[in-house]
Amino acid sequence: MFDAEKFVNAIVPKLKEEVKGRAIIACSGGVDSTTSAVLVAQAIGERLLAVYVDTGFMRKNETESVEQTMKALGLNYRIVHASNEFLDALKGVVDPEMKRKIIGEKFIRVFERVAREFGAEYLVQGTIAPDWIESGDGLRDTIKSHHNVGGLPKHMNLKLVEPLRDLYKDEVRKLAAYLKIPVHARQPFPGPGLAIRVLGEVTEKNLEIVRNACAIVEEEIEKAVQEGKMSKPWQYFAVLLPVKSVGVHGDVRSYGYTVAIRSVESIDAMSAEYSKIPHEILEKISIRITNEMKEVNRVVYDITHKPPATIEWE
Ligand code: XMP
Repeated sequence: MFDAEKFVNAIVPKLKEEVKGRAIIACSGGVDSTTSAVLVAQAIGERLLAVYVDTGFMRKNETESVEQTMKALGLNYRIVHASNEFLDALKGVVDPEMKRKIIGEKFIRVFERVAREFGAEYLVQGTIAPDWIESGDGLRDTIKSHHNVGGLPKHMNLKLVEPLRDLYKDEVRKLAAYLKIPVHARQPFPGPGLAIRVLGEVTEKNLEIVRNACAIVEEEIEKAVQEGKMSKPWQYFAVLLPVKSVGVHGDVRSYGYTVAIRSVESIDAMSAEYSKIPHEILEKISIRITNEMKEVNRVVYDITHKPPATIEWE
């Protein structure tokens, strides 16, 4: 049984010992990075700078809410606006692993820039056990290069600190609740963000579609949970497929995109089952997506477990 208090009492002195100078952390607002930031800040205080990079791949209103959280937690933080830089780097790229590698490297470059300005010698990361296990540790196959691991350049000149490296997601959530981090009930969100939920080339327009579709999925599912119509899934989102199909809008032929709804139940993200969402909720989501986005004329529901699929589509 995981004991959060014990973990904190053991890790904070260790971090004090390990981190001698200034450090930065990529704070995406996710539970992993926020929890890592709070732990390291307990050890070294203002010598930690929490950096939030607005990649342009975040969800609706995410930047604003992350800033509020960092403020409330009393972290020393900075917001970096870099969406143009990220979009440029992904021009013409469709391969999922390429996307992950490019985004990961860009991230590190941006941090190196901020780190130099801040005089940091350490880079804190919210890597958890499934991230490095699935990224291939020499013993296992590489399933996909998770953002925190695969994108890391070999000759990075910052020392790496990973306080959550041995923990699984459910343990991180317990830890976050113990530390009174307000994001502990949030669903997981991948490091490369919406860029890996746009299959094919990532453009501003496609990002806009998937951002709106994700917001609709979240709103409708959270509403249904509140009304007691279903229990809260582990993770629920939308994916934009690079497939166009024929439809009809009013009396007019349309040729539009397909959005897939993905919702899963899991304990540690290593395996997952698709959620048995009531059809009336799926119907509502489908109607809203096709009504609110004229570019989309078809919505499908992903009924695949992990394995053989993964939770994300890329
Ligand atoms: P997959 O798609 O591999 O995802 O079944 C397992 C869990 O990890 C999340 N995920 C990521 N998290 N960096 C992260 O920190 C990443 O690059 C990344 N890719 C996927 C995914 O949302 C799911 O919760």
